[in-house]
Amino acid sequence: MTRIRLGMVGGGNDAFIGGVHRIASRIDGHFDLVAGALSSTPEKARASAETLGLDPSRSYGSFEEMAEAEAAREDGIEAVSIVTPNHVHFPAAQAFLSRGIHVICDKPLTATFEDAEAMEKAVAESQALFILTHNYTGYPMIRQARQMVAEGALGKIRLVQAEYPQDWLTDAVETEGVKQAEWRTDPERSGAGGSIGDIGTHAYNLACFVSGLTGEELAADLQSFGAGRKLDDNAHILLRYEGGARGMLWCSQVAPGNENGLRLRIYGEKGGLEWAQEDPNYLWFTPHGEPTRRLTRNGPGAIEASTSVSRIPAGHPEGYLEGFATIYTEAAEAIRAVQGGQSREAVMGVLPGIGAGLDGMAFIRACVASAGDNAAWTKL
Ligand SMILES: NC(=O)c1ccc[n+]([C@@H]2O[C@H](COP(=O)([O-])OP(=O)(O)OC[C@H]3O[C@@H](n4cnc5c(N)ncnc54)[C@H](O)[C@@H]3O)[C@@H](O)[C@H]2O)c1
Repeated sequence: MTRIRLGMVGGGNDAFIGGVHRIASRIDGHFDLVAGALSSTPEKARASAETLGLDPSRSYGSFEEMAEAEAAREDGIEAVSIVTPNHVHFPAAQAFLSRGIHVICDKPLTATFEDAEAMEKAVAESQALFILTHNYTGYPMIRQARQMVAEGALGKIRLVQAEYPQDWLTDAVETEGVKQAEWRTDPERSGAGGSIGDIGTHAYNLACFVSGLTGEELAADLQSFGAGRKLDDNAHILLRYEGGARGMLWCSQVAPGNENGLRLRIYGEKGGLEWAQEDPNYLWFTPHGEPTRRLTRNGPGAIEASTSVSRIPAGHPEGYLEGFATIYTEAAEAIRAVQGGQSREAVMGVLPGIGAGLDGMAFIRACVASAGDNAAWTKL
């Protein structure tokens, strides 16, 4: 098995998620990072490539330069990870998709809905795969929850409760040089959504992924508590799903004591399921009228849907990096399958792609429209 030659856009020195993507791409050994346009300025990009030990001839000052040069090489990159702020996702992805290079892009899909539609077109016109790293779908017990719901363990779904509270924007740290906060609170770089785009899209994606349901309409109350902040940092959202299920979604970046509190609870006619990202190796299952059961990753109660994406024995915690690695490993399998002649549609499996990205953008758009109209019910 040869490793897939990978490039990266963004993820320079001091960036957050680029380093996570690099680790995740290596965990199962499917990728080699061989090229990068790692930062917003050529100097920082070069310095970052040096830190990583990249071949200087494959360290580029911009993603445009990288796409052109790599596409012209016989041993050019086969896939690229895009880990920049949101407004760069579309132009960068387009540069690689148009050259047949597979794209692994972080969420949300784009900053604007117009860019999202342009991204959809760019994906449709390319032969390459587009994978969106909604990484929480890679956790073993989330895969198990999805399978259990699909097999009817909960019966018809009635309630989908999702929440994603954090506290790191409680103070206006965007004015104190925290660059992750600077672009996330800037509509030009983040888009129309603050917390709803940054973490609300993860929670909504997870709610749909596990429940198997599509959202139909929502009513959103958005707030900006941070002084001078232009985008929401807290949102309370009521949701109506297809088939009559009801749900709530709370996302917040101003809730002290919450670090990364993504949590999902789903209830049907026959039972309930509960999962929390900060304790991800357990799934709590309550068949109605019976005591709650703790299902353990790779342990008692685990089914193939979770054991097949689990790497170590029960009791040794797996978490964020491994869940992310599962997305990369499945992306590698999909890339090899396409290279072997299979159709794009046949190889995606449960990997989030352009459809999940567009759903996230529709979620942001509906939240903003609803909130602007005094939390009126708004179609998704
Ligand atoms: N899936 C997840 O769990 C998760 C977590 C965090 C962030 N994200 C997403 O990842 C993306 C990056 O977030 P972050 O927190 O790592 O941001 P960050 O600010 O830490 O890093 C962004 C990097 O992109 C670089 N960059 C900016 N413009 C560029 C350009 N034109 N060309 C090349 N590089 C450029 C910056 O120099 C920096 O290195 C965002 O879209 C965010 O929503 C996803």
